[in-house]
Amino acid sequence: MRVILLAGAVIGGIALVVFLVMVAGLLPPQTIRLVEGYMPMQLLAELAFFVAVFTLISYLLKKNGLGIPRFWQGISFWLFIILYLKYRIYPPIPFSVRAIYGTIAMVGVFMWMSGAEDDWKEFKKPILNVLDAVTPFHKALRTFYLIAIPIILWGFSYNSFLPNLDEPIELRTVHPAPPASTKVHGKTFVLQTASNPYRVNAEGKYDQEYSNKLITEQSMGRLLKPDANPWDPKAEGYLKFVREGGEIFFQNCHFCHGDNLNGRGLHAFAFNPIPANFTDPGTLAQLQETFVFWRVSKGGIGLPRESFPWASVMPPWEQHLTTDEIWKVVLFEYWHTGYYPRTWD
Ligand code: HEC
Repeated sequence: MRVILLAGAVIGGIALVVFLVMVAGLLPPQTIRLVEGYMPMQLLAELAFFVAVFTLISYLLKKNGLGIPRFWQGISFWLFIILYLKYRIYPPIPFSVRAIYGTIAMVGVFMWMSGAEDDWKEFKKPILNVLDAVTPFHKALRTFYLIAIPIILWGFSYNSFLPNLDEPIELRTVHPAPPASTKVHGKTFVLQTASNPYRVNAEGKYDQEYSNKLITEQSMGRLLKPDANPWDPKAEGYLKFVREGGEIFFQNCHFCHGDNLNGRGLHAFAFNPIPANFTDPGTLAQLQETFVFWRVSKGGIGLPRESFPWASVMPPWEQHLTTDEIWKVVLFEYWHTGYYPRTWD
């Protein structure tokens, strides 16, 4: 029994260290992959695993007379959940959602701490110790809080009273509903049925699966299979056209959208709204390929009414590029960021 417990603690300890190294930023969060389609179950299982590890570690410590006080158990477990939500999950979840989960976790921890009368007493003890100043140390701590808390509150109120010099918020629909069809260079494209003529397999047929198969990491960053090189003269299928799209991109788009397609081009910050960051999961990854084709062709001035006030400087590229060039540059943008174009639901 002892051996099993110790082995469990060691395995759990290793998992914990891997996690903490990830938190420190020395390993990317994808080190241990989230299995696509099973992510929520996997996260729950991992959390349950860590709960078991903590229980085990704290049991072993207590047995050896090194028990961790209840108060710190609760606080550190809650901090652990917050770190887990922030550093384990990718693509990252927004702060507002993390705040909700964090609050729910806090309620959970609180219920766990106050579940039994004795536990609750033990949990409260350190707080009451400070309030009652039972030792000189606690007294010093109490004095410190008495001074620090008003200063912190003062800081918050000071900040909230500062006049705000930012320009007023402008509400604007970034991704308006697209038209049913769009006419580019005299040809009508029905957005629901058109497809990128260059997203083809080795036989020259439209093949979404084929192009996606060459990308091994979908959710963050891009990892192409080592044999997929668009610069190879023998490259097959759509890869041949990725290179041509790249040339068009670096002749026309990188000034605004950036060398890394992250929206930080040379001229980017002269504009408001700033050019789209294609590496962000909120742009290309969310859009159908024909939507992107339409946006590139028509630019900022071609946006529908809901995108008032049309402040976007995105040029209408149909005036400068051929239809084929637009399809190729769109292909390149998807290839470079490694995202799937969204399919029609
Ligand atoms: C003068 C700067 C500029 C240049 C050059 C430029 N863009 Fe843009 N682009 C923008 C701005 C600004 C936006 C974001 C505002 C908006 O939604 O229109 C944008 C948005 C886009 C979007 C929409 C993304 C989305 O999430 O809806 C696509 C696609 C795009 N650009 C592609 C291109 C391509 C392809 C080229 C080159 C052929 C290009 N852009 C060149 C400024 C530029």
